[in-house]
Amino acid sequence: MGIYQKYIMPKVLDFLCSTKPIQYQRKKVVHQAYGNILEIGIGTGNNIPFYDKSKVSKIIGLDPSENLSKIAKIKSQKYNLKIEHLKNYAEDLDLKDETIDSVLITYTLCSIENEEKSLSEIKRVLKPDGILIFCEHGLAPDYKISKWQNLLTPISKKLAGGCCLNKNIYNLIQNNGFKFENINKMYIPSTLSLYAYQYWGIAKKNI
Ligand SMILES: C[S@@+](CC[C@H](N)C(=O)[O-])C[C@H]1O[C@@H](n2cnc3c(N)ncnc32)[C@H](O)[C@@H]1O
Repeated sequence: MGIYQKYIMPKVLDFLCSTKPIQYQRKKVVHQAYGNILEIGIGTGNNIPFYDKSKVSKIIGLDPSENLSKIAKIKSQKYNLKIEHLKNYAEDLDLKDETIDSVLITYTLCSIENEEKSLSEIKRVLKPDGILIFCEHGLAPDYKISKWQNLLTPISKKLAGGCCLNKNIYNLIQNNGFKFENINKMYIPSTLSLYAYQYWGIAKKNI
């Protein structure tokens, strides 16, 4: 692993993922997680301050990157939130079937290489009435933005840990075995237009 990937990228990701408008997005979704929670791609732990501790039985914080998880561990101590860290990819979850009440995924579907496999794994580990809470940036509906998202995705993938700018989050979730309880889509303010179009809400297994 190069110096950029090991030392610089975690700081860049932490900075990009903790701007004021993005923190505001987290505030809308994270508190809804309850019971046995699996956070996919916990990264540097930017969601930690927003959990409603009174609803939490257990949090499993999954991430393939130890460098990012190290920062999340420090944050969890600061906020006195116990997290079981799991070094694992979403594509192949080392968890039993139907054991999770809430899966939380924020700003991570963009970086996951095989979203279909990951969503199928999420479906497998969720209890029948479990919820998938998501908040993601993705493909904008306006061509003047989406053309740049398509053009710049190869560079973004290289510089920002695999982050694709042009995933249609609505289609991805709906076409991979989930139905929406609620879904919101809009350009969030004060955010670079490549990242501004965001999708957030709750989906359940389409059984
Ligand atoms: C942009 S960061 C977002 C981190 C965090 N979820 C947040 O909201 O700040 C993307 C995260 O996805 C993780 N990631 C990338 N590929 C993954 C995969 N296949 N399975 C699980 N996590 C993955 C990265 O290690 C990184 O922590």
